Amino acid sequence: MTELEKLQNRFGITGLARFEEGMGGLPRIALTTPAADATVYLHGAHVAHYKPAGQRGVLFMSAASQYRTGRPIRGGVPICFPWFAARAGDPDAPMHGFVRLGDWSVESIQRSGEGASVVLGFKSNSATKMSFNADFELRYHILVGPKLDLTLEVRNTGEREFSFEAALHTYFAVADSRNITIDGLQNTEYVAKSEGMQRKTQTDPLIRIDREVDRVYQNTQATCRLEDPGFGRTITVEKENSNTTVVWNPWIDKAANMADFGDEEWTGMVCIETANSAENAVHLPAGQAHRMRAVIQSTPH
Ligand code: BG6
Repeated sequence: MTELEKLQNRFGITGLARFEEGMGGLPRIALTTPAADATVYLHGAHVAHYKPAGQRGVLFMSAASQYRTGRPIRGGVPICFPWFAARAGDPDAPMHGFVRLGDWSVESIQRSGEGASVVLGFKSNSATKMSFNADFELRYHILVGPKLDLTLEVRNTGEREFSFEAALHTYFAVADSRNITIDGLQNTEYVAKSEGMQRKTQTDPLIRIDREVDRVYQNTQATCRLEDPGFGRTITVEKENSNTTVVWNPWIDKAANMADFGDEEWTGMVCIETANSAENAVHLPAGQAHRMRAVIQSTPH
């Protein structure tokens, strides 16, 4: 019996959850429910597709994405943990941490109302301890329904407190990034990564993409609303236990320099990331758990 067949026998649900070979031969779960369809790769616990019934897909996926062990998938919802961006003091450490590069295990799949819930897990091991010396267990709860409800649970299974950063690095599909607006972050301080790491304050009530935007908004729990007149919809991102929001669009030059991203694809995406990063890193005592949640909803106009 193949690994896929074993997973299907143990966790598959006829008509609702099917294990299949995805891009690059990587295993993925295809969820088909009355409320929404979704696909989730075990590689990185990566939600690569979410489409509420009767609507277009909500998530952007790059046509140039690699689907390979050891490489991140470009688009969808990569999970960044236990650090965000480059690791301070360790240039060889993988960007955004190692869990988006690793294989996650399936803990459960269940019908949930008109949708489905999936729980995936990842545990620290001797390899993770080489770069992050902590004992932890991650559990990622993915609720696919009229909303996409994602909770990253981090449990400290060791005997010492540790600190971590995390992000649900969500890529949204938009008709044209130059014509969208994002609200919810007015008066919030941010680190402008694309402007020499300057610390600035968001004065305009609306964020527009008119250049490379790479901003790490700190100390905000606000709901963000993404208005997309081209696709005729509003996407809301509500969150819990997240104090950082990252807004990212690479614009022309950075897109051209990314090997796994099409040169023109920056017009079709924007990232609004539910995160805890930099001064909002989480300090987790031994035996405790932290749950960061993002609830995403698309409302057609
Ligand atoms: C964003 C960062 O969250 O992720 C950017 O703020 C970064 O600086 C982007 O370029 C993409 O990162 P990666 O590792 O997936 O190419």
